[in-house]
Amino acid sequence: PGRPDVGTGALDFKPIPPNTLDTFVVPNGYDHAVVIRWGDPVLPGAPEFDLHGQSAAAQSKQFGYNNDFVAALPLDRQGRRGLLVVNHEYTNEDLMFPGYTTPDAMTVEQLRVAMAAHGMSVVEIERVGGTGQWRPVERGRRPYNRRVTAHTTKFELTGPAAGSAWLRTAADPRGRVVVGTLNNCAGGVTPWGTVLSGEENFNQYFVGGDAAPAELKPRLARYGINTTARYPGGSRKWERADERFDLAKHPNEAHRFGWIVEIDPYDPDSRPRKHTAMGRFKHEGANVHVARDGHVVAYMGDDERFDYLYKFVSDKKFMKGNSWIARRHNLTLLESGTLYVAQFDQTSADEIDGSGKLPSDGAFDGRGRWIKLVRGNRSYVDGMTADEVLVFTRLAADKVGATKMDRPEEVEVSPATGKVYVALTNNSSRGTGSNPKPDEMNPRTANRHGQIAELVEDRGDNTAETFTWSLPIVCGDPADPSTYYAGYDKSKVSPISCPDNLMFDATGNLWISTDGNALGSNDGLFATAIEGPEKGHLKQFLTVPVGAETCGPFVTDDNRSLFVAVQHPGELTGATVENPASTWPDGDYAKPGVVVTWRLDGGPIGS
Ligand code: FEO
Ligand code: CA
Ligand code: CA
Ligand code: CA
Repeated sequence: PGRPDVGTGALDFKPIPPNTLDTFVVPNGYDHAVVIRWGDPVLPGAPEFDLHGQSAAAQSKQFGYNNDFVAALPLDRQGRRGLLVVNHEYTNEDLMFPGYTTPDAMTVEQLRVAMAAHGMSVVEIERVGGTGQWRPVERGRRPYNRRVTAHTTKFELTGPAAGSAWLRTAADPRGRVVVGTLNNCAGGVTPWGTVLSGEENFNQYFVGGDAAPAELKPRLARYGINTTARYPGGSRKWERADERFDLAKHPNEAHRFGWIVEIDPYDPDSRPRKHTAMGRFKHEGANVHVARDGHVVAYMGDDERFDYLYKFVSDKKFMKGNSWIARRHNLTLLESGTLYVAQFDQTSADEIDGSGKLPSDGAFDGRGRWIKLVRGNRSYVDGMTADEVLVFTRLAADKVGATKMDRPEEVEVSPATGKVYVALTNNSSRGTGSNPKPDEMNPRTANRHGQIAELVEDRGDNTAETFTWSLPIVCGDPADPSTYYAGYDKSKVSPISCPDNLMFDATGNLWISTDGNALGSNDGLFATAIEGPEKGHLKQFLTVPVGAETCGPFVTDDNRSLFVAVQHPGELTGATVENPASTWPDGDYAKPGVVVTWRLDGGPIGS
């Protein structure tokens, strides 16, 4: 509200065509530069990167692998210094270690390199001249620079399930302190200046599920942990370096991952936290919005085929201002609240046939409700305690009839309108065999390209328990009749496939990045107006090199600098360090890295 033109367009950049180039492509009138890449120094004393002599000690001081979430937070009022906060989701050993063959052939030191390449980085950055370009600060004290890893950083569990029996281990008999974070995918910046990060596919780090206690097996299996094989295929074999990854010995260790993590980049000595009140699943990320009445609301996707969309509403209210008291208060907001899961109805009486054909009422839309799962120590799910609902949230959501979704990735709230946008990336299993059938929210069989959903909470109140919804974009080749671009002339839009991350710019336009483009071109970043007559006029803004997904997107408050993460460049079957599928960014072998894009004339990004 406020400004009538919010989110209505003025995106006048010339869209770039789909391509398969092994470069980073931006529109005419823009420039870009790598800000930081895998192996660059982060902490004092970080040695120069040495591909052939990498050590865990070096990696733990250097920028990690597979950057996903990106934020650039202000450090001064003039916009000259900032903090780059980045997730490192996972590692591609075949692209990291020369001569790599199998996890079993890795040295224990190499396994520890991989652990150190996971986690997060905080890097002090400075603006280059008066432009929109940024680079790491390389001289003087950099007190905020920090590495968080999978095997060295301690996290505090908060909230109702902290200390529960499910979370206790031999190393942590109180169930309150976890070593490390795993598979940190997307995230969000909170209104109080901290960063949230989602622990996503943590299952792949554990072995020995076959020897876990019988009563735990179905709970482990619901999170994708193999409970029949000793060493499941694809296992990273981290138990060779740290036995806590062997569930035969430490069956509760897996429950200590799959949380939303909160880190305060402005307090480098602070212990990051894992918030049990926000539930445990394959968290893509979390984005916080302050509701009209001051409660904070976090929307969260569980990125798995046929998993769910969630919402958390805090018990306490957001305190405005930068005072020490306000900040200290706001840091507790995600420790207590109510956790809901979404159920979607449809408004048309038609059977949804899976072809993507619009139903007879002319739109994929409907009503929906947030089903309450747990608040504090009170469970709303029959037969489950509050601790169980929080630690095994997927099982709770199964019981209450939540809607099985096409892989909910990032969820973002328009700061201008409070409307909620969900990237549903794809679902190759929708409607196949005995799998759940298409419905109005997930309307295509064997959905290859995904869709974007819009939720409007009743009364415009983000704490509401009911809402209306629609699908503004059903992705894919615009010439494919199963696609929909908000009714806009499809001959004028850029094709998009597999939406993953979402972002709003300062004028309220929606930006969408992709992972896994099933149209055969490289992944990229797109923008569209999301209100008014230009809604659905989607235009491609950039593409990333071969094999990479486009992550992050983050635009600075002044709308002058756009950051994206280039994750897993060159990740193609059979590619190695010696035989790379991508040589981005330095022309030798592939390195994930963060890129900043700016307008040559200094104007706002996109318009
Ligand atoms: Fe890590 Fe759901 O993407
Ligand atoms: Ca993602
Ligand atoms: Ca985002
Ligand atoms: Ca993804």
